[in-house]
Amino acid sequence: MDFSLHLLTLLSLLPQSTALWCYQSQFSCDDTCRDPSRWAAQFPSCGGLRQSPINIVTSKVRVNSALPPFSFIGHSDRVNVTVQNKGHSAHFALPPSVQLTGGGLTGHYRAAQFHFHWGGDRRPGSEHTIDGERFPMELHIVHIKAPYSSLAEAEHDMAGIALLAFLFEESTDDHPHLDTVIAALGRVQNNGSSTVISSFRLRDVVPPADSLHGYYRYVGSMTTPGCEQAVAWTVFHRKLSISSRQLDAIIRQCRFWTGQPMTDTFRPTQPLDGRIVYCSMSGAAQTPVVHVWLCVFLVVFWSVMNSHMTSTGFMGEELQDV
Ligand SMILES: *[C@@H]1O[C@H](CO)[C@@H](O)[C@H](O)[C@H]1NC(C)=O
Ligand SMILES: *[C@@H]1O[C@H](CO)[C@@H](O)[C@H](O)[C@H]1NC(C)=O
Ligand SMILES: [Zn+2]
Repeated sequence: MDFSLHLLTLLSLLPQSTALWCYQSQFSCDDTCRDPSRWAAQFPSCGGLRQSPINIVTSKVRVNSALPPFSFIGHSDRVNVTVQNKGHSAHFALPPSVQLTGGGLTGHYRAAQFHFHWGGDRRPGSEHTIDGERFPMELHIVHIKAPYSSLAEAEHDMAGIALLAFLFEESTDDHPHLDTVIAALGRVQNNGSSTVISSFRLRDVVPPADSLHGYYRYVGSMTTPGCEQAVAWTVFHRKLSISSRQLDAIIRQCRFWTGQPMTDTFRPTQPLDGRIVYCSMSGAAQTPVVHVWLCVFLVVFWSVMNSHMTSTGFMGEELQDV
């Protein structure tokens, strides 16, 4: 009741033409603004054929040898990061000195911001799902292809934006660097408020590129309106960890622009519509490598056992005695 009152007050202050959109979790959103199933009415791209997020079906991904590892630039630099509550999520602005190349993409991409998608009380909230499994949280790092400097400029290029996605899994131990992030979220509770994290290193959250050989790649869109279909998506195999204490804390920090608790901030998965999800070679090779080593081990084990048994005559005589 409180919330709907708050919403009505807000709406009366907004110009009629303001495009409003909501997540499914914003219950008071029905007539006044649009939940994900109705985004397309106001933002046509949201109804396109290359939308994100998706469910990745691992048995259907296609191995692509032209997907090498990335090179990250500036991940070890200490930077001041401005954090702002944008009404639907909080953005952590990165300086353009943070960049990436490689990963099967052409040219340089400059970082713009990172943000998270999370669930609610004990509910997982990743946007991408793997074989139908939703993970507790997802990190998105948004990069814009040089020489573009905004989403508006990049949106006409199918790979104008490079989005890196990391899925989180729950761990018993706290992630050593997430408390800084959680504290910053606590300082931007309401739409429009902002704060600064000084001396932030992306390296403290994102693993080094040489440990990220395995990833999925597909072409898709931004996962919030306008749903621009300009994104080369990378979903890394490697999971980041977050403790249940930190998960509980992170969902409690912010409010949506409607005043409601900012929870379940993910768009439902979208149809593939004939797209192919690729998998980098080294990502796909992980299982076979384990198998090869197991085979080598078994062969060695067997020949050692065999020669041992033969030399002691175990197989020949003693066995017959039993
Ligand atoms: C970060 O902000 C502090 C305090 O405002 C300033 O002294 C410092 O030079 C800034 N660092 C960078 C890398 O901009
Ligand atoms: C959120 O705040 C910004 C100002 O920081 C404002 O421009 C925007 O309209 C607000 N969003 C909503 C939906 O109220
Ligand atoms: Zn996102």
